[in-house]
Amino acid sequence: MIESDVSTGYGAPRSECFYQVYVRSFADSDGDGVGDLEGLRSRLAYIGALGVDGILLSPCFASPQFDHGYDVADYFKIDPLYGTLPDMDLVLAEAHRRNLLVLLDIIPNHCSSKHAWFETAVRSQPGSPLRQRFLFARGRGPHGDSPPNNWRSYFGGPAWSRSPRDHTGEWYFHLFGTEQPDFNWRSTDVQELFDRVLEFWLHRGVDGFRIDAAHALCKAAGLPDVPGLDQIRDPNEAIRINPHIIDQPEVHEVWRRWRALINSLKPEARLVGEIWVDTPQAQQAYLGPDELHEAFVFGLMYTPWTANALAETIRSLHDAFAANGRLPSWVLSTHDESRVVTRMGNGHVGLSRARGLALLALALPGNYYLYNGEELGLPTVDISKRHIQDPLFALTGRTRDGCRVPLPWTIRSQSNYGFSSRETASCSWLPQPDWWGELSLEAQEPEFSSTLSLYRQALILRRRIWGGLHSLQVDDAVVSFHRGNEFMCITNTGDTPKRLNLDGDVLLVSEGRDSLWLPSNATLWLRTRS
Ligand code: BGC
Ligand code: MG
Repeated sequence: MIESDVSTGYGAPRSECFYQVYVRSFADSDGDGVGDLEGLRSRLAYIGALGVDGILLSPCFASPQFDHGYDVADYFKIDPLYGTLPDMDLVLAEAHRRNLLVLLDIIPNHCSSKHAWFETAVRSQPGSPLRQRFLFARGRGPHGDSPPNNWRSYFGGPAWSRSPRDHTGEWYFHLFGTEQPDFNWRSTDVQELFDRVLEFWLHRGVDGFRIDAAHALCKAAGLPDVPGLDQIRDPNEAIRINPHIIDQPEVHEVWRRWRALINSLKPEARLVGEIWVDTPQAQQAYLGPDELHEAFVFGLMYTPWTANALAETIRSLHDAFAANGRLPSWVLSTHDESRVVTRMGNGHVGLSRARGLALLALALPGNYYLYNGEELGLPTVDISKRHIQDPLFALTGRTRDGCRVPLPWTIRSQSNYGFSSRETASCSWLPQPDWWGELSLEAQEPEFSSTLSLYRQALILRRRIWGGLHSLQVDDAVVSFHRGNEFMCITNTGDTPKRLNLDGDVLLVSEGRDSLWLPSNATLWLRTRS
C-alpha cells in the first residue's frame, strides 16, 4: 500500500469534516414545514458543537423546486422558501464567527426551464446565440418529431424534450429532468455567467463550492447515437456507458477556468467535485493545482460489510489518490442515497454496523462529508406513495425522499419534532414517522452511548489522529490499519466478539466498553504504544 502524505494540497494541516445541510430538512424557522436559512442559523451552535470544520449547504438559490433546488432559476438570488440574501449573509457571518467554513452547492450542468435564459432561448430562432446557450438540436424524421439521438437521461427516458412553446422542430437536451435543460459549455455567455456566479458568492464570503455533476458539463459534438443504448434499462447505466456525455476532455477547460478565477479572487477557497466516473484513477484528472481541490469518494457507500471488501475499497481508493499525492474526500451518505443504517440492514445490527463504519471512515486520512442526520443514526424512512415528492419517482419508480425527511430535534412530536420552531407549524414537507422522537437530538444528547455522542467524541478525537495510513490488514472478519506511529483502527465485521491482544489505550469504541473484547459489528480506536 502507498503510504499517504497527509497534506491535502491547500495547506490544511489535518483531515477536515464538513457537515452537509440539506436546508429543506434541517430546521424550519417560519413554520411552513420547510427548512430555511434562519432555521439553519438558529442551529449553527449545534453544528459547531459537533466539532466539524464547516458546512456544505444544499442549493437554496431561486428555483421552482422541481428537483428541490437542483433546478436553479436565478443563481444570484435566494429562494423565498429559504429566506433572503441578507439571511444568507447572516448565516455566513454567524458560521464564520463559530469558525465554520461555508461551502455552497453550485449546479453548472443545467438550470431550471424557468431560468430567464432558457425562456428566452425557447422564444428565439434556431441558430440564434440566445439558443446556443443550451443544447438545442433538430429532431429526426421529416418533421423533426423524433429526438435528435438515442441518449438517455439520469431521470429515465430520453434526454431530449420539446418545449410546448417551441414550434421550430428543435429539441433540447437535459441530462436530468425535463425541467432541467443543460447549458452549452461551448457558449462564452455560459462561461461568463458562471464566472460572475462564483465571483458574486465569493465576495459575499463563501469559502468554496460543491460542484454538482462535475463530470458531465460537456457533450460530444455531432451528437452521435450510441448503438445498443435502447436495450439498457437502468438510467444510470445508460449514462455510464454513453461515451459522449461523461468525462469529455473539454470539461477540464471549465475546471481550469474556475480554478484560475478562484486563485485570483480567493486562493484559500476550495472546489469539491461530484464526479461520477468509472474509476478513482479517472477522478484524478479532475484534481490538481489547476483544477479541483477535492473529489467526493463514494466507494464506502457501496462496499459490503465484510473485512475483505472494506480493506479492498480502502486500499484501492486510498492508493489511487496517494499515488498522486492526494487524499480522498470520504462520504458515507448524501441526500441522494439510502441512509447508512438502512443499507447496513436496519435494526440493531444495521445501527451497529453504521456506527462501526463511521469510526472506520473517520479514521482514514482525507476529508469527511457528513450528511445531516447521519450523526443521529437515522435510517431511511419509507414514504408512502401519496407523499412522495422526488421527481425521480414518477420516471424511474425510485425515490430519494427516505433520506430527506426533516430532522427530529425533540422527543415530543409538537412542531414536527422540533424541526419547526412554531407551535402552529404546518406539517413538514415530508412526513416524519411516529418513532422519530426516539432518535432526536433531545433523546440522544444526554446518553453517553448514543450515536450522537459517538460522533461528537469521534470528531473531536479525530483532530488528533495524525500520520499516513499503513499496515492495512485483514484477519478473518477483522480489518485493521494504522495511522502514523500511535494510532490503530480495528473493525470487527463478524457476528461474534473478537478477543483483542493489543498494547495500547482504547480511545473510542463504537459498541461496548471492554478493552479485551471487540463486539461484533464494531470499530475500536486505539492509541498504540510505540
Ligand atoms: C444531485 C441530485 C440532483 C442532480 C441534478 C445530483 O448530483 O446531488 O440531488 O438531482 O444532481 O442536479
Ligand atoms: Mg420554513
